[in-house]
Amino acid sequence: MNKIQSLSGYLHEYQKSVHQPEKFWSRIAESFHWKKPWDQVLSWDFNGPEVKWFENAKLNITENIFERQLFTHGEKTAIIWEPNESDEPALHITYKQLFDKTCQFANTLEAQGVGKGDRVIIYMPMIPEAAVAMLACARIGAVHSVVFAGFSSSALADRINDCEAKMVLTSDGNFRGAKNIPVKAVVDEALEKTNTVEKVIVCQRTKAEVHMEPGRDLWWHEAIKDQDTKHKAATVDSEDLLFILYTSGSTGKPKGVVHTTGGYMVYSQYSFLNVFQYEQNDVYWCTADIGWITGHSYIIYGPLLSGATTLMFEGVPTYPHPGRFWEIIDKYQVNQFYTAPTAIRALQAYGLDPITPYKLDSLKVIGSVGEPINEEAWHWYHDHIGKGKCPLVDTWWQTETGGIMISPLAGITPNKPAHASLPLPGVQPIIVDAEGNELKGNNVEGNLCIKFPWPSMIRTTYGDHKRCKETYFSAYPGMYFTGDGVKRDHDGYLRILGRVDDVMNVSGHRMGTAEVENAINEHPKVIESAVVGFPHDIKGQGIYAYVICDIEGRTEAGLIEEIKDTVRNIIGPIAKPDQVQIVSGLPKTRSGKIMRRILRKVASNDISNLGDTSTLLNPEVVDEIIKGAKTN
Ligand code: WT7
Repeated sequence: MNKIQSLSGYLHEYQKSVHQPEKFWSRIAESFHWKKPWDQVLSWDFNGPEVKWFENAKLNITENIFERQLFTHGEKTAIIWEPNESDEPALHITYKQLFDKTCQFANTLEAQGVGKGDRVIIYMPMIPEAAVAMLACARIGAVHSVVFAGFSSSALADRINDCEAKMVLTSDGNFRGAKNIPVKAVVDEALEKTNTVEKVIVCQRTKAEVHMEPGRDLWWHEAIKDQDTKHKAATVDSEDLLFILYTSGSTGKPKGVVHTTGGYMVYSQYSFLNVFQYEQNDVYWCTADIGWITGHSYIIYGPLLSGATTLMFEGVPTYPHPGRFWEIIDKYQVNQFYTAPTAIRALQAYGLDPITPYKLDSLKVIGSVGEPINEEAWHWYHDHIGKGKCPLVDTWWQTETGGIMISPLAGITPNKPAHASLPLPGVQPIIVDAEGNELKGNNVEGNLCIKFPWPSMIRTTYGDHKRCKETYFSAYPGMYFTGDGVKRDHDGYLRILGRVDDVMNVSGHRMGTAEVENAINEHPKVIESAVVGFPHDIKGQGIYAYVICDIEGRTEAGLIEEIKDTVRNIIGPIAKPDQVQIVSGLPKTRSGKIMRRILRKVASNDISNLGDTSTLLNPEVVDEIIKGAKTN
């Protein structure tokens, strides 16, 4: 079904998708089940922006996962769940069982007052109920917003408030490696700062003692008990919201990226099938967390819409030993394995010993996502995990793009280390210079934009359409601006160079410098701060903070720890600065702008050429900063 088989097939499909995009996408969309067909495939205006795919069509995405496929796939395993502890039994959930659980929970949500269009926050560990929660929301036409369960209570509260969520789905605790994280307690704290949530449903996982607020909190197992396992799917419009996912940008507050139903369904399935070249009896594993877009599109929607067996792993790569990933691959005979460069580099650091006990011979395709993969990690992954024979798909995309945009198709596109390579059919990248002029031909480097709509693209930022326009459609009018730099090499293959804005990529997680600065500034002793990224061997980028503080009554070391803790409490452990340097001033231009270029160079230990500092208001602080720099 719509699967590209060869390089010439890809080139042919690509041409069709550019010359007749509507015809191309309608042919693909026709293989899905629509309750009512569309009036028009696409209408768009990037100046609005206003983009509609499959206008006025009606559908339910879960009918396309379940009813459409049950006849052939009912007894097939939909989800293999591998728990944190390797000696706890795994679960194999068939499509039929997952369907029953989804329907039962859909009835539960409705019984608790959630309806079409209501926002539901999912703050849960990697357990099957998290998948059921997402699917049940989609079943009733409610909008899910999954929040990574590592975010702090204030980050959670911000997201609840922004989307005015009616319900929170959570668990008592979260087993992650050797840790037992008190998830429910974080929710309780967040709910003190919000007033829209009416009910909280708590799934029992760790059996930790938790507070249950009478009238508000219910246990999952009790709430579902009397609910039927049959549910008639809600009919939603193609452009109705499927989910909101919050992500960081260059300004302070994370924004809610909005994805709608029809286009996202078509694109997540099409891209999954083609990039990974999934075959019907394969076992596919993506190691992401469902709190990120990768988990949405390539653990849940893309694979399940393709009738695939998707593996969900609760734990972490190094627990109880650094061979855990490889053990799981052999245990379930995983065929496609999809992970992040930061995980590869972290495991590479353990040497080859953790790999040798495992065969890894079931693998057919290995994939990378989340940040540029350096050549060394690419080769290590390709040689030692892929055994030199598996195509490696380096997939470039974003929360906003909803699906993989630029990537080799496994076994079809010739592999080139560290290159995301070529756009998927339907994706029209363009490289522009700072003024927005197109850089044509090969051997060019510039900013990456997309000049034509694709079905799973962002529709708006929740509650603030102006922000969507300003962030993505204003830098280069008439185009979607990605925020990434890119090079087209002499063969016409694309290589992503990383962010060109004030967004860092820390262990594959996106983090705005302003967001971290705002958190640091919450500390009562902090006067001003500036945050930059620096190259980090494992994380890709680390976080370096320059902070002006009132040090009276504190030691420098004590204050640095307090600042790190402040960030952890306000955002979460992933945002904690690796380095904090206390400074007496920040290099500023005469107009008062912080010269980040200098701060980035110092943080990267690259002070040989600091460029022109003569325009600075306070050139003397540069020497002080260099002298006090922390070495990474
Ligand atoms: C940013 C998006 C969508 C996947 C998870 C991250 C960087 C992502 C690659 C890649 C180089 C990559 C970009 C992008 N990125 N994949 N294969 N090669 N860079 O989603 O949190 O929305 O971050 O991640 O800089 O803009 P995200």
